[in-house]
Amino acid sequence: MKILLIGATSLLGRKIYSSTTSNYDIVATYHTQTSDLAKIKLDITNPIQVRKVVKDIHPQIVIHTSSLGDIDYCENHQKEAKQINVEGTRNIVQAAKLIRAKCVFFSTNAVFDGKSPPYNERSQMHPLNYYGKTKVAAEKIVSTYFPQAIIFRLNTMYGWNDSRERNNPATWILDRFSKKLPTPVVTDIYNNHLWVGQAAQAVWKAIEIGAWGQIFHIAGKECLSRYQFACELARVFHCNEKLLKPVTSNYFAQLTPRAHNTCFATQKMERVLGVSPLSLKQGLQAMKVERT
Ligand SMILES: NC(=O)c1ccc[n+]([C@@H]2O[C@H](COP(=O)([O-])OP(=O)(O)OC[C@H]3O[C@@H](n4cnc5c(N)ncnc54)[C@H](OP(=O)(O)O)[C@@H]3O)[C@@H](O)[C@H]2O)c1
Repeated sequence: MKILLIGATSLLGRKIYSSTTSNYDIVATYHTQTSDLAKIKLDITNPIQVRKVVKDIHPQIVIHTSSLGDIDYCENHQKEAKQINVEGTRNIVQAAKLIRAKCVFFSTNAVFDGKSPPYNERSQMHPLNYYGKTKVAAEKIVSTYFPQAIIFRLNTMYGWNDSRERNNPATWILDRFSKKLPTPVVTDIYNNHLWVGQAAQAVWKAIEIGAWGQIFHIAGKECLSRYQFACELARVFHCNEKLLKPVTSNYFAQLTPRAHNTCFATQKMERVLGVSPLSLKQGLQAMKVERT
């Protein structure tokens, strides 16, 4: 089966690519980062380019992992965020529909306002920031054009990034530990942090069982604050926990508003996909093993 993986230079895209099985022939695209695995340059904001690549490759499935995911950057560059996250998604689903390919799309915990966790697949979306708004708009486009698409809402991910990629909670704090820098970490933002390897596992499982037309919440096992995350990270990677300074989010008053608790209920992922959420310790250990 041929798969077009758009955004193969993302944290998630690289993991999806590297965890594939021989059942799939993957053709991968990049945008600005050149990469050995992604051979085709594609700007998803260009509908003509998108249509041409989709038509030329003619995949059975399009996996779309491209996005502008930095919440603060999106808030300050709303036009660009809308162009990539909303219009880019529209370009991809329209092109995929033309060749009757199936589609896999990724949304986020940022579509929720944090007031009534844990969130399941039927919870009401109400984003607090512009990034979340673009993802709600993109979800609507995907489900309207393509009711048979799979939509994954992912909780905050961690895993090894490429040096040119943006940091995630684990790589940012590990970098601070390596420089012996005191690091303020918030005690009042809660997630069930998701190891990127588990997100990729859920994607392959959903494709394998043909879970088309469904939404899945994918997340780790425990609902923990970012500070609790950082402390576990210090323990697993044998770093100096004393460098962590617990603060509340008022400390970062200049940052874009974020929901305080967007933990997910993971029953559907467990029941339908047969994927058991990893504890934070298990996820961090899996990450550690990749570099030892
Ligand atoms: N990371 C998280 O914690 C998290 C949480 C929830 C949901 N998600 C969602 O999961 C998906 C993957 O996220 P991620 O964090 O793995 O992504 P990421 O590491 O931030 O990478 C973003 C990707 O988008 C590509 N891209 C940006 N602008 C583009 C354009 N105009 N045309 C084509 N490609 C473009 C980048 O390509 P180049 O690098 O080649 O420029 C890169 O491959 C996204 O839909 C994101 O919203 C992520």
